[in-house]
Amino acid sequence: MKFERFELERIQSEWEHIVKYNLSESGVEALRVSDLIKDTSLQHQFLNQSLGYPQTNGTIPLRELISSQYPDLSADHVTVTNGGAEANFISLLGLSQQRDNRNEMVMLMPNYMQLWGFGKALGYRMKSFYLQASSTEWIPDIEGLKRQLSKKTHLIAICNPNNPTGAIMDADSLKAIAELAQDANAWVLSDEIYRGAELNGSITPSMLEFHDQTLVTCGLSKAYGLPGLRIGWVASANDAFIYDLWAMTDYTSIAPSLLSDALATLALQPQNRKEILARTRTILRTNWSIVNNWLTEHSHLIDCIPPKACAVCLPKYHADIGSVDLAHRLIQDKSVLVPPGDYFQMPRHLRIGFGYNTDKLTMGLHLITETLQSIT
Ligand SMILES: Cc1ncc(COP(=O)(O)O)c(C=O)c1O
Repeated sequence: MKFERFELERIQSEWEHIVKYNLSESGVEALRVSDLIKDTSLQHQFLNQSLGYPQTNGTIPLRELISSQYPDLSADHVTVTNGGAEANFISLLGLSQQRDNRNEMVMLMPNYMQLWGFGKALGYRMKSFYLQASSTEWIPDIEGLKRQLSKKTHLIAICNPNNPTGAIMDADSLKAIAELAQDANAWVLSDEIYRGAELNGSITPSMLEFHDQTLVTCGLSKAYGLPGLRIGWVASANDAFIYDLWAMTDYTSIAPSLLSDALATLALQPQNRKEILARTRTILRTNWSIVNNWLTEHSHLIDCIPPKACAVCLPKYHADIGSVDLAHRLIQDKSVLVPPGDYFQMPRHLRIGFGYNTDKLTMGLHLITETLQSIT
């Protein structure tokens, strides 16, 4: 099995702790442990916690809290993983074992490219359908999906809300995808890690509501601002399949961290969850208005379809330079990290993350303007 380089993760891993202005994050400013453990009796409980192995698929209280986010699911319909990345990894590995002679995977583009790279490594024939840019929003090309489906289609992979555009596919679009998946007898693998990070506060419907043969992957890294916990999950109406995916984690990481499981259980208590998602929304709205003002002021250099969710947007710049070159010039000349659109198969775009510190965001945007002006 040959893995192609996961360019987005590489450029982030190499530069995010070195540059002065990191606009590559796709989530919001991370919470602190003390934001979750507020009272002293809880602090004592955590300090006295013995550090054994936890329940390897996640404790029952954690899985119950997770399953309550989806209709008709229970703790047995969920397995907890180390981040959304492991959730995607075991889901696709598990699906690939069942593909018989159906070897095609149709993936929504642009997208976070983990499933693209891993799908190729597993020998899938990769196909795409697209979010198309209208003047005001990204719209899924359902007819395009229809054209890509064949007797060989094994699964459709989507990311909703979408990284890198911040687009949301609504219930009608999800229903249309579900109907096509049903006709093709295909699985849907739906990465919903940005669910809960909608600017208007209205939680995006889960694909689980529309198609039985769905695996949802999710986690606390983005909408919840808790990437350091490394808590993700896979959820499905098919509990037997979830059981098989759990068995795969015997080979990957065995279990999530015990402390992370406990902190995640705290974060997902209904009142805490509400407050955490409200904080995320406030950050997104405040910071998006900074980015939006900057875009309006510099529309001769760069323009963007506004995101509806996530702490990222995908503007198109007008300068005559490839996006990888531009990203490296920004790192070298200005100490600004922004992932190039080419890493999402979107040339002449940049993905700007706006979920962190507002001063650094403002300065980073200013430095991007300087660079674009020097090229145009
Ligand atoms: C769409 C998507 N899925 C999964 C992941 C991986 O998430 P985690 O950091 O929880 O492993 C990311 C990270 O950026 C992502 O953007």
